[in-house]
Amino acid sequence: MKYNFDEIIPRRNTDSVKWDLAETGVLPMWVADMDFCTAPEITQALEKRAQQGVFGYPLTPAAFYDATTAWWQRRHGLAVDREWVVPMPSILTALSTIMKAFTAPGDKVLLQSPAYNHFFTAIEDGGCAAVTNDLLHENGEYTIDFDDLEQKAADPGVKVMLLCNPHNPVGRVWTREELLRIGAICFNNDVLVISDEIHSDLVFGEHVHVPFASLGPEFQLKSVTASSPSKTFNLAGLQVAYLIAAAPDLKKRVEKALHAQGVLFLNPFGVDALIAAYNEGEAWMEELKIYLFDNYRYLCDYLAEHLPQFKVTPLEATYLVWINVSALQRPAKEITAALLKEQHLWINPGTLYGASGEGFVRVNIACPREMLVDGLERLRAGVV
Ligand SMILES: Cc1ncc(COP(=O)(O)O)c(C=O)c1O
Repeated sequence: MKYNFDEIIPRRNTDSVKWDLAETGVLPMWVADMDFCTAPEITQALEKRAQQGVFGYPLTPAAFYDATTAWWQRRHGLAVDREWVVPMPSILTALSTIMKAFTAPGDKVLLQSPAYNHFFTAIEDGGCAAVTNDLLHENGEYTIDFDDLEQKAADPGVKVMLLCNPHNPVGRVWTREELLRIGAICFNNDVLVISDEIHSDLVFGEHVHVPFASLGPEFQLKSVTASSPSKTFNLAGLQVAYLIAAAPDLKKRVEKALHAQGVLFLNPFGVDALIAAYNEGEAWMEELKIYLFDNYRYLCDYLAEHLPQFKVTPLEATYLVWINVSALQRPAKEITAALLKEQHLWINPGTLYGASGEGFVRVNIACPREMLVDGLERLRAGVV
């Protein structure tokens, strides 16, 4: 390997949410943030920007749009016109912008639960109500309950569906067939699909990310895609993301809502990081994927040997492993609280992602192997 993912980077006292919200001695394996240095090409681009020494109001350069559209074409086979791209500071900004642009207080928004926790908060903060289409969980695997989706989408109060593609926290990469059915149901019911594709680059094995907007003209024009290099390249602190809206009226509404929130500029460090990531970061990312999947395999082997009562959900994408701990017959929140208190291990209870997450925990494995081993040993010590 050219890049060293085994290196332990001390992150305490670096103003890190992951590490500095955790008390001394706690191993944090919760928030979706990786304990690796980003690609060196990105750091070099940031150093170059810092050396400029003048940080006035920035323009978002053509290179931002070129890098983004080339990435989607090359990595995911999606032709994106640069006119469709709306730069954003983060996906959380994108979610609040979408709520402002496409819903009115009192509307309903569909999501598939368990669901990324900030989907719920964005909906509530937008004055709307979340309508959950619980995923089916059978034989350790998640699928979509299409009958339920059809019924819920038919509610005239439902205006938008927040789709997580690939899915955090259950790690599914939705197939073309699944996405086609979601689209058909939503379009029949005039439900706008927002496809959050932030996890689309970290997809493993034979699984292939299918961009929702790639499935045909209707999918392109009746959806908005949100994405960012921030998960793939560990750039969350630089606050850079974008929406892709092919329909001019949807794009206009997004831009208006964004400006109404006072967002007029992107941080140039974030912009430079995106450009370097998408233009020069691919080799680093390919190695990262190998390392992450090896971590996943290590975790599976470890649990099979030492904690066989825990069942690992197959990880098709992301570095967030969704583990069924229902054999313990205790609420997930109680399990994670005890692990934090007694073993100084911070992982998330499944119920953070909605009621259907009961019986599960989510573990972030994007860390050097040595840290993963430490975390697994703490987990084992806490439950046996
Ligand atoms: C599905 C999903 N969307 C959005 C985000 C957050 O993105 P951002 O940091 O750009 O707001 C995350 C972070 O884990 C996520 O998992």
